Amino acid sequence: VIEDIRVRKILDSRGNPTLEVDVVTWNGFGRAAAPSGASTGAREVVAFPEGGVDKIISEVEDIISSELIGMDAEDLNEIDLVLKEIDGTENLASIGGNTTVAVSMATAKAAASSYNMPLYRFLGGNMQTEIPFPLGNMINGGAHAGKNAPDIQEFLVVPVGAETITEAVFTNVNVHKKIRELIQTKDKSFTGGKGDEGGWAPNLTNQEAIEIQVKACETVTDETGVLVKPCLDMAASEFWNAETEEYVYAKEGVNRTTGEQVDYVSELIETYGYYYVEDPIREGDFEGFADLTKKAGKNCLICGDDLFVTNAEILAEGIEKKSGNSIIIKPNQIGTLSDTYKTVELAKNNKYVPVVSHRSGETTDDTIAHLAVAFSCPIIKTGAVSGERIAKLNELIRIEEEMTYPEMADLNKYR
Ligand code: PGA
Ligand code: ZN
Repeated sequence: VIEDIRVRKILDSRGNPTLEVDVVTWNGFGRAAAPSGASTGAREVVAFPEGGVDKIISEVEDIISSELIGMDAEDLNEIDLVLKEIDGTENLASIGGNTTVAVSMATAKAAASSYNMPLYRFLGGNMQTEIPFPLGNMINGGAHAGKNAPDIQEFLVVPVGAETITEAVFTNVNVHKKIRELIQTKDKSFTGGKGDEGGWAPNLTNQEAIEIQVKACETVTDETGVLVKPCLDMAASEFWNAETEEYVYAKEGVNRTTGEQVDYVSELIETYGYYYVEDPIREGDFEGFADLTKKAGKNCLICGDDLFVTNAEILAEGIEKKSGNSIIIKPNQIGTLSDTYKTVELAKNNKYVPVVSHRSGETTDDTIAHLAVAFSCPIIKTGAVSGERIAKLNELIRIEEEMTYPEMADLNKYR
């Protein structure tokens, strides 16, 4: 039974304020913090109402406490319903999706702790035997880096040949180091600056970044024997010009229509063996996504982040139109753990690969590591090298150690 709820303002990795919640039960304790995005999708729930974290701190602790104290922390669905009732809007605009998600996650952790169980096992049951592959961020551009960086937001890698999570995270870090060397060879003035998610933020064109990324994957694969594949998050809404209806690649001075964008991305997939491409088409363009999926979806995960915003109803539209074959799962895009789970289930039932993900603004909260394991998601996207990113990766190492029969996720079951 919930006895107390505390809400406080803490720092996120960009130095902005965010919310942390403690939930105390008679024999348990849970703490969780909300992250925040920079390239957010238009249909995400509202993170904070006007007035931001400060307004929430002064108003919400009392309201939420008076409703939730006395409830059973185990009744997660019930708790989430009450949170949505307190808010009273469709998009959580009055108390904010970051408020509800932090309470929702902290409550689940309190319930787990009252059983003396880690969250992943409390939510996922005792049958958890698989650990997700970490999708690591290597080069940052777009909204996550300075204006001289590439237009494409994220150049990522996934160590598909790794056999344990430890091997996987260290393989990613090897690629990260290799990429720094390659950038420095190309640009002597590079000072090692990083973007919001811990990838390098170099003054490179998109094509130069692609070549460096692919070269680093090949080199590390050769050196370590662990197969590493290149991946992208284009965050294409960020460089879509709605007036001219073109994707604007400022670094190359090239514009592409939707048809040209579909061709360009399928060529990249074919030429460089991209394993995963996120948001290659702007949000709202289900047809563009479907065209690309038809052309290249056999060989590559075509993932919707801003397109689906972890929303089961929007995903259902994508399933219907065959837009993409993978979905990003960010709990604070939808606001509660139970709605997050609902979206994961819908994805799995329709062979969409669910990828649990961090946000560009993060805290050291490691809840998403537990969610990825609990929900049996085969991939987790949580950066590579910076404190708030390694918080999740190191937790995965601990989780793997605790599991009796660790095994990397089986992606084939989605094929
Ligand atoms: P955001 O972006 O957290 O800044 O919204 C991350 C992503 O696009 O995956
Ligand atoms: Zn994204």
